[in-house]
Amino acid sequence: MDTQVVIIGGGPSGLLLSQLLNREGIATVILERSSRAHVLSRIRAGILEWGSVEMLREAGVGARMDREGFVHDGTYLTDEDQMVHIDFHALTGKRVMVYGQTEVTQDLYRAQDAMGTTIVHGVEDVRILDLDGAQASVEYVLNGERKRLSCAYVAGCDGFHGVSRKTIPEDRRREFERVYPFGWLGILSHTPPVSDELIYANSPRGFALASMRNANLVRCYVQVPLSDKVEDWSDARFWDEFSRRLPAQAAERLVTGPSIEKSIAPLRSFVSEPLRWGRLFLVGDAAHIVPPTGAKGLNLAVSDVFYLHQALSAALKAGDETGIDGYSGRALNRIWKAMRFSWQMTTMLHRFDGEDSFAAQMRRASLRHLAESETARRDLAENYVGLPY
Ligand code: FAD
Ligand code: PHB
Repeated sequence: MDTQVVIIGGGPSGLLLSQLLNREGIATVILERSSRAHVLSRIRAGILEWGSVEMLREAGVGARMDREGFVHDGTYLTDEDQMVHIDFHALTGKRVMVYGQTEVTQDLYRAQDAMGTTIVHGVEDVRILDLDGAQASVEYVLNGERKRLSCAYVAGCDGFHGVSRKTIPEDRRREFERVYPFGWLGILSHTPPVSDELIYANSPRGFALASMRNANLVRCYVQVPLSDKVEDWSDARFWDEFSRRLPAQAAERLVTGPSIEKSIAPLRSFVSEPLRWGRLFLVGDAAHIVPPTGAKGLNLAVSDVFYLHQALSAALKAGDETGIDGYSGRALNRIWKAMRFSWQMTTMLHRFDGEDSFAAQMRRASLRHLAESETARRDLAENYVGLPY
């Protein structure tokens, strides 16, 4: 065999899996379609569950996160001017870490370089073959030349648009999907945050999220119709709309500045089952997508990697295949609970075009219930900080 595990995709899932396997002496090759610079330019997740923090430490990539990340004890959910504080630490004993996905990816690339692992960038036309044989193979084109690698297992870490999921025959896959009729317009700006913690704001004009990366870098979002284009939104229009959706006491602290990145992401819930097809395993966004309202996407990728690295390690080092047989079921059990939470947060906080008069009252009642019931706040906090692996 050329290597033990071929990993398709060098995003956070693929890099973390490679990092954990190589630390256990298991050889991997990562095949990534884009350049490293392109992978690192994508502004995405910002919140790490505590389980993810511990996984990154265990993988030997926690030092900069512990120095430069910000530990948050809670968050705010708001309804017009009412602010509901969810004190994660008081309610669950756990916290979350504000540390951007770009930084996590950067740390993983550096650690992989230091270990001398193989990451091939710029691959095209990846094909995954022989999944039911004694060994699998993966073909790809690099600089116009077709190549082939043989391996024991293939990890499909190639995101929602990758090739891995589509390698499983259509009649053997079950897909579950909800597409939401809106997207998030997000900007990154060198300005101070309006609050010491994130604000998830429900307003009659739609949802807004005030997030951050550090004391002088904010990530802010507003819910927009799917038909909107980034060009429709000048910085001035964005800040005006964002401030109208925040509670007055937060809006009055808003400092605006030029955006350094601006993009629109559609919202979707999606799961493809099973996560295993012979010698192929699906991980992270290749298998599931959540709307970002619960901050679960990257964290689910980390918990999938946790289950899979344990399973592959037992199979390759001890010949014990119970973990790989159980991977799909174990990972899906946690995935569906995060799906439910992300859907619930999305429904509770967004305005749906054409909704009836009842819907807005349900959102307000949910937020009032959270304000008045510690049990309700604890339930939200338990899910937000991350369910146990
Ligand atoms: P990806 O990051 O998509 O990586 C897949 C990699 O595979 C890519 O590098 C791609 O180039 C490569 N690839 C694709 N096809 C091929 C191919 N055929 N061959 C080779 N390589 C291929 N999550 C959170 O937890 N918290 C948040 O706060 C959060 N906020 C988000 C905000 C936004 C705006 C968005 C868009 C996402 C957010 N997410 C969040 C989700 C999170 O970013 C994803 O869940 C995470 O990136 C998944 O990692 P992944 O490695 O599985 O997939
Ligand atoms: C972010 O900072 O990008 C972010 C934070 C929390 C979310 C989604 C995105 O729920």
